[in-house]
Amino acid sequence: MIEINIISALSDNYIYLLRNTEKNITSVIDPGEAEPVEKILNQKGWHLDEIVNTHHHYDHTGGNAKLRDIYGSKLIAPIYEKERISNVDIFVSDNDIISISGIETRVIHTPGHTIGHVCFYMPEENKLFSGDTLFYLGCGRVFEGTMEQMWSSLSKLKTLPDNTLTYCGHEYTASNAKFSNHLDPNNELLKIAFSEIKTKRANLEPTIPFNLGKEKKINPFLRVDDKVFTNSIGLNTTSVSESFKEIRLQKDNF
Ligand SMILES: [Fe+2]
Repeated sequence: MIEINIISALSDNYIYLLRNTEKNITSVIDPGEAEPVEKILNQKGWHLDEIVNTHHHYDHTGGNAKLRDIYGSKLIAPIYEKERISNVDIFVSDNDIISISGIETRVIHTPGHTIGHVCFYMPEENKLFSGDTLFYLGCGRVFEGTMEQMWSSLSKLKTLPDNTLTYCGHEYTASNAKFSNHLDPNNELLKIAFSEIKTKRANLEPTIPFNLGKEKKINPFLRVDDKVFTNSIGLNTTSVSESFKEIRLQKDNF
């Protein structure tokens, strides 16, 4: 069993500090800055063994160098971003089975937000670290890949078990919930989630992690292959990736 410390960083990023007490291994996923991570490591008296990146954006990697300097941690990052992330010790690619904090983890290549983006799935822990590919009630902006690639990446995540707890890279949930509710106002499950989200954010609590099974029923970006849903929101598109593109563009301009 792994302990996960959620660290808020920069304006709305989340850094995840993973601790395997049994094996005495500590890892950090996407340290956008070093200081808040260092502070907790000092408080707990832990050494940082591994730094893991989902993609090259600075708000996910900005703390790599300083943490590596202090702790001599091993840096694990996607091979597809080797030109964009420095000093990587272990490159990973799609379907690799690796160890993060001593826990078996599958690498899932999810191009779209960036070309080389990967997610990390821990089957025994039912946990997914989705970076900027899947957000609670949303998905990442498509900066480097195509809309088709982003949809295909989200489809891969959709195949993971319903009991998966998802840890994403940003606290964008309130804004995503407003958009989802605007699009799909009669979805009862979404209404309940929206109200829970409002309460959590009013108390400045993270809305992370979120349940993937529920997400498959309320996140519009995961439902573009459901004809009943796309018809109900008035989409007259000819393909699933067209529907995805339409919803992504609507959200970009919401
Ligand atoms: Fe990003």
